[in-house]
Amino acid sequence: MAIGREREHHRRTHTVSALLKEFIRGETKWTSLKGLHSTWICSSLSQVQTAWSMALMDKHKQVKRQRLDRICEGIRPPILNGPMHPRPLVALLDGRDCTVEMPILKDVATVAFCDAQSTQEIHEKVLNEAVAALLYHTITLSRDDLEKFKGLRVIVRIGSGFDNVDIKAAAELGIAVCNVPASSVEETADTSLCLILNLYRRVTWMHQALREGTRASSVEQIREVAGGAARIRGETLGIIGLGRVGQAVALRAKAFGFGVIFYDPYLPDGVERSLGLQRMATLQDLLIHSDCVSLHCSLNEHNHHLINDFTIKQMRQGAFLVNTSRGGLVDEKALAQALKEGRIRGAALDVHETEPFSFSTGPLKDAPNLICTPHTSWYSEQASVEAREEAAREVRRAITGRIPDSLKNCVNKEYLMAASQWPSMEAATVHPELNGATYRFPPGLINVATGGLPGAGTGVESLVSGTLAHGIAPVSHPPHAPSPGQPKAEADRDIPSDQ
Ligand SMILES: NC(=O)c1ccc[n+]([C@@H]2O[C@H](COP(=O)([O-])OP(=O)(O)OC[C@H]3O[C@@H](n4cnc5c(N)ncnc54)[C@H](O)[C@@H]3O)[C@@H](O)[C@H]2O)c1
Repeated sequence: MAIGREREHHRRTHTVSALLKEFIRGETKWTSLKGLHSTWICSSLSQVQTAWSMALMDKHKQVKRQRLDRICEGIRPPILNGPMHPRPLVALLDGRDCTVEMPILKDVATVAFCDAQSTQEIHEKVLNEAVAALLYHTITLSRDDLEKFKGLRVIVRIGSGFDNVDIKAAAELGIAVCNVPASSVEETADTSLCLILNLYRRVTWMHQALREGTRASSVEQIREVAGGAARIRGETLGIIGLGRVGQAVALRAKAFGFGVIFYDPYLPDGVERSLGLQRMATLQDLLIHSDCVSLHCSLNEHNHHLINDFTIKQMRQGAFLVNTSRGGLVDEKALAQALKEGRIRGAALDVHETEPFSFSTGPLKDAPNLICTPHTSWYSEQASVEAREEAAREVRRAITGRIPDSLKNCVNKEYLMAASQWPSMEAATVHPELNGATYRFPPGLINVATGGLPGAGTGVESLVSGTLAHGIAPVSHPPHAPSPGQPKAEADRDIPSDQ
């Protein structure tokens, strides 16, 4: 009886597999597949999964993804984990210098750079074959962008903020997203303090006045040029978001004599005691009690325009505002108006709603008492190198180990685990060859032949070297996977309504 059932199982699996193969080759129409008892095809998820794997194993097939999506609507095939191609393709999406990453990856991957600002600028070969993507904050990967990548398994942000990647969509497509959270904590905190001190001590404006030829020899002239400079001791600094950077800012600010308060509804009770800070229960409480508000929360779907016309009115008359976190947290139109009316005495922004920022456009173009820097708080030579090394090491862990278990800073692990069943497979075996190469696909290049880029030596020659010889089996990401009913992630916890 049991043997009979097993035979029947095999027969069905093979029939489904054969049909899928024909369908992939375009020999069978979807309508004829539909003719086959659809409940029979879908009666067992494991049958379909087995059939799916068998279909993929046929090396001569081109996976016609859209058709497969239709077959599997509502049925998620397992995300393939395990051995990757011996020399998978790793692409730096929005940069061109891979000199730091190369030594770390060259024995396990081929590294390409795209220097793109959007996925439209990324060559088809990278979209089809890249298994790992490295990126800074200057390119955005929405769900639509992510769906263009056929074989992507891991994205690593070279830096801490990952709001430019739709991490939930990535998880649903079976792509792990990682960041490098540590490398710029001190730089960003130091820059934040630098901006806060600038607002109080007016260094930038005094420098500007001198440049413009203002004389400051008599006490009266000094009063004139330094007008508005204020004492720090006894002032209250309000920190919104007491994460890594927020805490580093708090420690520094205390040394300057600030009384530090913070608002962060996601932190457990007791943090205020370990750090000797005062915790505010609501955003409104923080705004009412702060002489200077500094933003250090991550941007998520709940806090866009956290600082807006309404919340600015809750701030103290003549307070300062500093933002080194993310531009989307501040409604720049409302801020410009508040600066013009003097409701906010001064603001310092390293991040902007639209980047790259320019003083000549946007609502802030004629706002007074404003210091702007071009999203550079994170940067120091050391931090930059550290971030790149750590990002490359994360990619290496993804290639040589298991996704997501081997990853150190996977930011969508919960979604990923909830969105898919990760089958247990052996860790990847790595090809021992030691001749990784950096190359770039110039816009419009149609074919990149094995043995190197045609036209190497023109346009991109200095960064084009070595060989390109990989035929990575594409991992098919099911784009119609249901939203994960995952546990509440940090960003999803309830936020007090005062925001
Ligand atoms: N300008 C730069 O060059 C630069 C450099 C590094 C980091 N950043 C940005 O700074 C921010 C902080 O970085 P981090 O490494 O400290 O991140 P982090 O994840 O360690 O800390 C963020 C904190 O914000 C809190 N938070 C989230 N939403 C909040 C809300 N609505 N109200 C109050 N608190 C909230 C979280 O609970 C968390 O404690 C991020 O947005 C990051 O992208 C910018």
